[in-house]
Amino acid sequence: MFKNKTVVVTGAGGTLCSAIAIELASLGAKVALVGRTKEKLDVVYDKITAAGGVALVCPCDVTDEASVKALAKEVEEKLGGCDYLVNGAGGNNIKAMPTITKYDERELTGELPEGQKGLYNVDMDAFRSVLDINIMGTVLPTMEFAKQMVKKGGGSVINFASMNTYCPLTRCFAYAMSKAAISNLTQSFAAYYAPANIRINAIAPGFMVNERSKNYLGTVEDGLTARGQSVINHTPMGRFGQASDLLGCAKWLLSADAAFVTGITVPVDGGFLTLGGV
Ligand SMILES: NC(=O)c1ccc[n+]([C@@H]2O[C@H](COP(=O)([O-])OP(=O)(O)OC[C@H]3O[C@@H](n4cnc5c(N)ncnc54)[C@H](OP(=O)(O)O)[C@@H]3O)[C@@H](O)[C@H]2O)c1
Repeated sequence: MFKNKTVVVTGAGGTLCSAIAIELASLGAKVALVGRTKEKLDVVYDKITAAGGVALVCPCDVTDEASVKALAKEVEEKLGGCDYLVNGAGGNNIKAMPTITKYDERELTGELPEGQKGLYNVDMDAFRSVLDINIMGTVLPTMEFAKQMVKKGGGSVINFASMNTYCPLTRCFAYAMSKAAISNLTQSFAAYYAPANIRINAIAPGFMVNERSKNYLGTVEDGLTARGQSVINHTPMGRFGQASDLLGCAKWLLSADAAFVTGITVPVDGGFLTLGGV
């Protein structure tokens, strides 16, 4: 199903999408590995090619329109036009987050204790950059690579939503609203591109383990932070997810097995969304 197909994976140097890129390459896909940091992409490239797969390292900032156009040209020339796009580039920025969870009048007078900040004290450039990477970083590659899918008679796209898509976590304003936008744009783009036989869906991962999450959530094995314990209390399956937990869903959404599926966001969350928290 993926043999000789061209797959573009943005965020391919990251935790979740490196696993997706490696899996699709193992099934015969030619994979363009996209991210800003070449060194991270090189690690994934080495794993794919050592196993006999085909990959291309493509450093690119997916929020920059000219860079995305240049990326699309390179992919078309070197790998053939794009069949599948995985929009994995995204994330949060701690500078865009307050440390407190509720408004405190001292955030307006500069009297919050040292090290604490409210919504009024966050870095608004960082706030804007979170909206940009999660929203425009999905919109721009989709519009550009859809042109190639059109030429090939169709294609499929996966976007990345979040548990914040459904209900915002505390302190994550920019991240949460941008991930809510992902579900919305997945629907509107799905409707728009349906006549071109391009399907657009999203995965909403639950709380997945990576090096960053170990710092702020802890681990089930070695001890959880208060926030980590709260997540586990709300996760009926009682664990964080692994990148490998997403692979089945990603392959299904991309493949012809999901030929009549478009515009949906699929939670892969160990049941996190089944509980109201009470
Ligand atoms: N991990 C979770 O628990 C979780 C849960 C829900 C949703 N998600 C979403 O799933 C996606 C993948 O998450 P992850 O955990 O794999 O994150 P990750 O490990 O941080 O990987 C994200 C990748 O995106 C790349 N990236 C960031 N900004 C970029 C830009 N402007 N242009 C190109 N690449 C850019 C980063 O590489 P460079 O910095 O080198 O560019 C990074 O390798 C993200 O959209 C994330 O928000 C993750």
